[in-house]
Amino acid sequence: MFGKAVKENPIMIISIQNKIRYWMRLVFYGIGAGFIAETIKRRNGNKQKHETADYWNAELSGRMSTPNLNGQISNAMRDQTSIVLLKMCGASTNSVLDVGCGFGDLVQALSNDGIERYVGVDLSDYVIERSNSEYANWPVAKHCNLSFHQADLREFSSPDNELFDVIVFNEVLKYVTVKEAVGQLKRYQRWLKPNGMFCVNITNDPKHRATFRALDDNFVWVYGMIYQQRPSGPRFRLTHNNATPPYQVGLFKPLHKYSQAA
Ligand SMILES: C[S@@+](CC[C@H](N)C(=O)[O-])C[C@H]1O[C@@H](n2cnc3c(N)ncnc32)[C@H](O)[C@@H]1O
Repeated sequence: MFGKAVKENPIMIISIQNKIRYWMRLVFYGIGAGFIAETIKRRNGNKQKHETADYWNAELSGRMSTPNLNGQISNAMRDQTSIVLLKMCGASTNSVLDVGCGFGDLVQALSNDGIERYVGVDLSDYVIERSNSEYANWPVAKHCNLSFHQADLREFSSPDNELFDVIVFNEVLKYVTVKEAVGQLKRYQRWLKPNGMFCVNITNDPKHRATFRALDDNFVWVYGMIYQQRPSGPRFRLTHNNATPPYQVGLFKPLHKYSQAA
């Protein structure tokens, strides 16, 4: 009977798959053996589908095709919490490098904060071409110099070694391994201005909690926040829920003075 219900209800299958995936991640990353999961992922050097531009071109031109990834509250909240946290913690948002920028919603959300320079980087050429052809009409372009680059975050280098007040990784470090996330922030710190900060925003799940713990070991924790939508009632304990997951955002600074690339 259970088997029949599962066969007839694909959403139930996805939900069961998600739960199994969650528990596997909880075991792997909870006992500090996430490297095993990551080694398996990286076996044969094969890229997972979400590591290709084709995958993201299809997602961003299909399922997520309107700015703000379909106007979802969680996406608008992501930009707003990152901005509020940065401002409250004394970061300047005059110049921002937005890694995994998607439609560039972040720069539009920063429009009233006097942002002067914004560079967006994304793996998807679809979204970068779209932003390049549209941004001249965005109100923020009146006072902000914008550029967009297509690149994998693991290969991108700031053109002319330009430095930024803030480097943002909103909902993108989940697509790389924990080790890569730390390695990449170490690489990107050369493009932070002396008082610059990193802002990292990702859903709360066992792997991403491991990412935050590893970042905390390698950078100076400035501040953080966790939030989750409650569409169906005032149940305010954080829950694992794929449709409306909890999001965690953290600000970090480099541990020590580093030699800047410029
Ligand atoms: C869930 S969307 C988040 C977009 C935006 N940062 C936001 O918070 O709304 C993830 C974005 O990261 C990009 N992305 C995924 N892997 C990437 C990588 N390795 N390098 C650069 N961008 C990547 C995708 O193309 C997509 O635009």
